[in-house]
Amino acid sequence: MDIVVLISGSGTNLQAIIEAIEAGHIQGRIAAVISNRPQAKGLTRARNHGIETLILDHTGYGTREAFDADLLQAIEQYQPGLVVLAGFMRILTDHFVDHFTGRMLNIHPSLLPKYKGLNTHQRVLDAGESQHGCSVHFVSSELDSGAVIGQSKVNIARNDTAQSLSQKVQQQEHTLYPACVALFCDHQIHLTPDGVQYQGSILPDNGLDLTED
Ligand code: GRF
Repeated sequence: MDIVVLISGSGTNLQAIIEAIEAGHIQGRIAAVISNRPQAKGLTRARNHGIETLILDHTGYGTREAFDADLLQAIEQYQPGLVVLAGFMRILTDHFVDHFTGRMLNIHPSLLPKYKGLNTHQRVLDAGESQHGCSVHFVSSELDSGAVIGQSKVNIARNDTAQSLSQKVQQQEHTLYPACVALFCDHQIHLTPDGVQYQGSILPDNGLDLTED
């Protein structure tokens, strides 16, 4: 399956997916990596592995619609079966999301449906939670609200800070995201109007527990 990955920054999740493909764990190939930020470190990671890169700088666009229209075209030139958002820090228009429904995934640093939006680690600490984690979900037009494929959990220690939690969660992200991409590329998961279908049934709202010990 051809995959297009969208990034804005460091690209550690991209790196994990590249390595999983190279190790033969994902039946797919990355056709291109597209960044809205010219300096994104993830672009270098892609180039280091011989992957085509493209920069579409959103600051050069007057409207979100104009940017998304060009982004849609840029992606579709590769005819991908899957679009992976990996730290892509742009809100997407409904038109864009509708176009890729059922074949666009995102990773979010919380146990959705809890803690949508930004600053999840600090918010989780402020709320006195004992568990935190990350979720991979199909992208829907409402932010961080699409059907969840899988989650990985981390326990919160008394001395955890937003930074230490972020590290723990990122470590889980790097196994969770490749695992979910692999399931999609193997046609084991599908988005249906009732939720995510897996092995003949609809997954619970929090998806599969893919926590790595
Ligand atoms: C991840 O923490 C992910 O949860 C969030 O953005 C971050 C991307 O990190 N959506 P990286 O660019 O993959 O290192």
